[in-house]
Amino acid sequence: MAIQHYKVLHDYVQANETVVDEYDDVVLPLLEGALPADLTGVLYRNGNGRFAHQGVWYDHLFDGDGMISRFEFDGQRVCYRNRYVRTREFLEEEKAGRMLHRSFGTNLPGGLLKNAFRMQFKNAANTSVVSHGGHMMALWEGGWPHRIDPATLDTIDRYDYDGVLKNQFSWLDSQIMPELPFSAHPKIHSDTGVLYNFGTVAGTKQRLVLYKVDPAGKAMIDQVIEMDDMTFSHDFVVTQSGHRILFLTPVAFDMPRALLGLTSPAASIRVDRDKPTLVLVIDPDGTIHRLTTDFCFVFHFVNGYQERDGTLIVDGLMLDYFPESELMKAYLNGDVADDGTGARFTRYVIDLAGKRVTHKPLADYEGELPEVHPDRVGKSYQYAWGIGRPLSHSRPLADQLVKIDVTTGQGIHTGDDHTLPSEPIVVPRPGSTAEDDAWLLYLLFDDRTRTTDLIVADAATLTTTARLRLPHNIPLGFHGMWLPQL
Ligand SMILES: [Fe+2]
Repeated sequence: MAIQHYKVLHDYVQANETVVDEYDDVVLPLLEGALPADLTGVLYRNGNGRFAHQGVWYDHLFDGDGMISRFEFDGQRVCYRNRYVRTREFLEEEKAGRMLHRSFGTNLPGGLLKNAFRMQFKNAANTSVVSHGGHMMALWEGGWPHRIDPATLDTIDRYDYDGVLKNQFSWLDSQIMPELPFSAHPKIHSDTGVLYNFGTVAGTKQRLVLYKVDPAGKAMIDQVIEMDDMTFSHDFVVTQSGHRILFLTPVAFDMPRALLGLTSPAASIRVDRDKPTLVLVIDPDGTIHRLTTDFCFVFHFVNGYQERDGTLIVDGLMLDYFPESELMKAYLNGDVADDGTGARFTRYVIDLAGKRVTHKPLADYEGELPEVHPDRVGKSYQYAWGIGRPLSHSRPLADQLVKIDVTTGQGIHTGDDHTLPSEPIVVPRPGSTAEDDAWLLYLLFDDRTRTTDLIVADAATLTTTARLRLPHNIPLGFHGMWLPQL
């Protein structure tokens, strides 16, 4: 398949070269260290594989077609495979040899004529992967999941959970948004195996839809919450106690502007910073609490749990502004201002009885793409890992791998001026008990060699255990997962 090659000039943005090759089970050469013999399983990562299509640049970081990479560890070597998700839109555009679909953040070339009244956007299938109920799926928060073969990465189908994700609110709603969205950040409860997710649905009313999927893969709409205004949320928290917590940032959608094609849908979002952010808590019994906190936007939560006294703790990476599409476009063009406005590790304390939300900084670090030990999700915990930088850092990029002790606020980090790390996936060592007795698996781009390496690191110290070279440079992507079984 001929996928257009596209290179950019700015050093860090070279990490975003379009992927043109799809490999079948290539053994990766080991450049440094040694692979642990007891590290066996498969790492999957999803992310946008291209940043332009037939000469047309995407304006937004989230618009490129999803490409899944697969790294199979057998204790001695790592086999690599990658595939674009064969979405309907991807196949149509490949066949046509041009961009056919308007994206969330990118209008089609050709102005109003090509974009007006075109409100069905490309399903990019590029954000995350999940394995649950016998299915592995590539997720994108604006539409249906795509089922993927976990061995070959072949795309099986666009999956609606046996019709559960068909919009049946009304005929008009089904015309406005036929596919109920299924966010890219579902959470699987460690005791029950139930998968929880949400979708924000535009239509005759603004609705927040909450889903439950049982361990066998049978889905249901658990709650439909009607909202007064449009809101936006990318991630949420499910505690071990069964509380679901969403932070809903007040945004307004300039519908005429988007409908007429004057700007992309993402660029038609307007933010009202004078309004508070809504903190929605859904108790295990379904009771809904609506609280507020100072205006903020949290792309990703680190973790959340309930204290013994009933208080809910939510740790997130907090922005005090909304990252509007112009910022995304500037980032893709290599234009990042060093204004100290990255996402801060922040702890929110939710007192339901007192209807109060307070917050405080957790560490003197900015961060993104946070991960915790898989057994600590929804429970009290000590460590978070992610990409980021200390506040004193010289470069305006989250170019360090960071580890934060959330009980003390202390952090350690590693990196240099020529490399960029991906989200680190935490893989506990077999038989381990300490929370940081684990490996971190992440990708590392080096702008000197324009190469991408797979790193196995010690989660306690962040030191490299093994470094392997990919056969091509791939973008660092968004989210991945580890499956311990081969
Ligand atoms: Fe995300």
